[in-house]
Amino acid sequence: MTPLKRTMAQANFHRAGLESVIIQLAGKAEAILPCLAKGAFDLVFLDTDRSQYPSWWPSIRALLSTRGLLVVDNAISHHHELEDWMTEVAQDPGFQQLLLPIGKGEWLLVKNP
Ligand SMILES: C[S@@+](CC[C@H](N)C(=O)[O-])C[C@H]1O[C@@H](n2cnc3c(N)ncnc32)[C@H](O)[C@@H]1O
Repeated sequence: MTPLKRTMAQANFHRAGLESVIIQLAGKAEAILPCLAKGAFDLVFLDTDRSQYPSWWPSIRALLSTRGLLVVDNAISHHHELEDWMTEVAQDPGFQQLLLPIGKGEWLLVKNP
């Protein structure tokens, strides 16, 4: 993300009155994801480099809390890029999943208790 976008995001957090509860982390996801607290995230929204999702999946899987929700954007618009990974993840008994045909296609995964 560019410095301008980071500044815009921070301004939006401020306008929403949420600056004190949001920590913005800037950097490569592959460097940041393994350092975050496992089981501590109730919501993860994935909308970045789709080719990296398979290698990021073990970290993301571990970060989600019980009943945590993962939302994957572009699950219909770029299905051809995601289908191998989606097929693999859909077989994971630790999650329930639903493909929502809104926008560009949102794939929802909820971590089972
Ligand atoms: C489709 S855009 C996301 C747009 C964002 N959801 C928004 O509404 O502004 C993809 C973003 O992922 C970032 N990105 C690409 N590879 C990344 C990586 N390895 N780690 C972190 N961010 C990455 C790009 O810089 C870009 O800002």
